Amino acid sequence: MQQKGAIGIFDSGYGGLTILKEIVNILPQYNYIYLGDNARTPYGSRSFETVYHYTWEAIQWFFNQGCSLVILACNTASAKALRTIQQKNLPLLNDPFKRVLGVIRPTAEVIDNFTHSKHIGILGTTGTVQSNSYILEIEKFFPNIKVFQQACPLWVPLIENNEHNSKGADFFVKKYIHQLLEQNANIDTFLLACTHYPLLIEKIKEYTPADIKIVTQGNIVAESLKDYLKRHPEIESLCIKQGKINFYTTDNAEQFNKQAIIFWGNNIQSQQVNISTL
Ligand code: DGL
Repeated sequence: MQQKGAIGIFDSGYGGLTILKEIVNILPQYNYIYLGDNARTPYGSRSFETVYHYTWEAIQWFFNQGCSLVILACNTASAKALRTIQQKNLPLLNDPFKRVLGVIRPTAEVIDNFTHSKHIGILGTTGTVQSNSYILEIEKFFPNIKVFQQACPLWVPLIENNEHNSKGADFFVKKYIHQLLEQNANIDTFLLACTHYPLLIEKIKEYTPADIKIVTQGNIVAESLKDYLKRHPEIESLCIKQGKINFYTTDNAEQFNKQAIIFWGNNIQSQQVNISTL
């Protein structure tokens, strides 16, 4: 008999909370475990090797908590680690009830719904942009869409340090948006391809021409998870349904509780864990 568990939601820090919030909105019946690797955030500027190593450590931790299904609610981890984990690590476990999903594929699958001009702009971390994951995934579904990318390396640090509403943030919001717009005049859709960026949305709107649509991923990922659970009853039946959420961080729990409010909207009581397998 397979062990039942919560659905695992992982991010390098707080950003995945923006995804979890939307998931809980439409799938409140399940139990969730959220883990932020705050001790090692940001992932966006790290090498493939490091992001893969950190992400695989986190996934093993989730599996040890009894999770069958883990969502990488982080574009950087999805871009740099997911493929290797799905192709190399999971088959070695020899356990068909352990699954890991990301946020890039579900977004790529529906991006065509948002664009008329078929020119879209991706705003993401350096890691996500360098991986070209969005270009490759979107090409598979919609070869007619032209994808332009802009790395925004300062946005996650601004958000993680609660400086995203400060006057100083404007400079870097404006700078990256201009750099993206300069690449092509026909872009009609911006995809916020980092789970932290919804926190910056008001400032992003301020510097984005009114005719450009701004797309966030929370709802897209939540709908895709709902569909996945419907299509995979063997996994769905292993997800506990008591509507509970537990929050974990690899750094100080008090600090997490304080900062997480801006992403989650309500008080959070987290616990600190050590996920290192070294
Ligand atoms: N929230 C993560 C993402 O979606 C990245 C944050 C980081 O750089 O750690 O890409």
